[in-house]
Amino acid sequence: MTSNSKNTAHAQKVSRRQMLRTGTIGAAAVAASTVMTARHAAAQSGTTTRELDGKTAFVTGGARGIGLASAEEFAKAGANIVLFDIATPNMPHVSYALPSRADLATAQARIEALGAQCMTYRGDVRNLEDQQAAMRRAVDRFGSLDIVLANAGVGHAGAIEDVTAGEISTLYEVNVGGYMKTTQAALPHLRTAGGGRIIYISSGLSRTGNGIFGSYGATKWAVNGFAKSAALAYGRENIMCNVVAPGLVRTPFADNEAVLRAVLPNAENPTFDDVSAAIASGSTLGIGHHEVEDIAKAVMWFASDATKRMTGEVMDVSYGDAARSVG
Ligand SMILES: NC(=O)c1ccc[n+]([C@@H]2O[C@H](COP(=O)([O-])OP(=O)(O)OC[C@H]3O[C@@H](n4cnc5c(N)ncnc54)[C@H](O)[C@@H]3O)[C@@H](O)[C@H]2O)c1
Repeated sequence: MTSNSKNTAHAQKVSRRQMLRTGTIGAAAVAASTVMTARHAAAQSGTTTRELDGKTAFVTGGARGIGLASAEEFAKAGANIVLFDIATPNMPHVSYALPSRADLATAQARIEALGAQCMTYRGDVRNLEDQQAAMRRAVDRFGSLDIVLANAGVGHAGAIEDVTAGEISTLYEVNVGGYMKTTQAALPHLRTAGGGRIIYISSGLSRTGNGIFGSYGATKWAVNGFAKSAALAYGRENIMCNVVAPGLVRTPFADNEAVLRAVLPNAENPTFDDVSAAIASGSTLGIGHHEVEDIAKAVMWFASDATKRMTGEVMDVSYGDAARSVG
């Protein structure tokens, strides 16, 4: 036996002794046999093991829009889902309606219809304790937390000189502070899981200045910066932090009177498709918006095995606008 193989054999014995002492060998054997049984059952039933089987994904702003579509992608890949949402239609300093409790229940039903387990939690991302409580409940039920989508956000359209103090506070506390608190609440659980993913939704408006969305856009520049700092801080702990930056997406966040009138002030009754057509006329790909599924697929990529060694990235999904951005 060479000294190298002696060392390896010794290390294996020590590690086996440690596992016996701590009881982890029993747990590991049980876990392995459970996986085998699940795989065997899947093979028997003609289904295959999916990429996120056994993982749990926590989605802020999951009651509708990009959050819900991303949760559906995670669910299709086998993850357990937690939808965290304020689910309160009238939010002070926000000019359009947010979803209701009933919308959150409908979102849960959509996830469950895909065969995934889903729990919901009504809370505010501005409140760290809400997010900590929701994550604790998720770990109690599903056993771990592996993927976090920081997505809950609010918008604002209008001239910089007109934005009110209440709107400024709300934009920053939700879009920036909320993402920071999501990160803080998630870190202990991701560490326990041996690593994980945090995916942040920013915006194409995080890449350039904009005369209509200046106040909102600034919050999204902040998201990119924060996500890169989180990537640096937690990379060695196997926690990957990446950003998806969407262009215009068809959701109530963009398809509302305040946004449509601000973008097309001279149109009598502007519609979302009018705004999309205006963007399309100058866009790289000749289209002017995305559907939520386009964004959800990019989000899923950052949760997948393909990106297990990628962090600090900002990926644009913006009809080719990335070709114009400097970053
Ligand atoms: N739709 C677009 O054109 C577009 C483009 C770029 C980026 N984004 C970003 O994508 C994200 C999702 O937007 P969307 O288009 O799906 O919007 P949406 O309004 O359809 O969904 C946002 C969700 O966040 C929830 N939410 C808002 N404030 C919350 C709070 N304080 N606590 C908990 N939940 C809260 C809402 O209830 C809602 O369910 C946002 O961060 C937004 O800034 C949207």
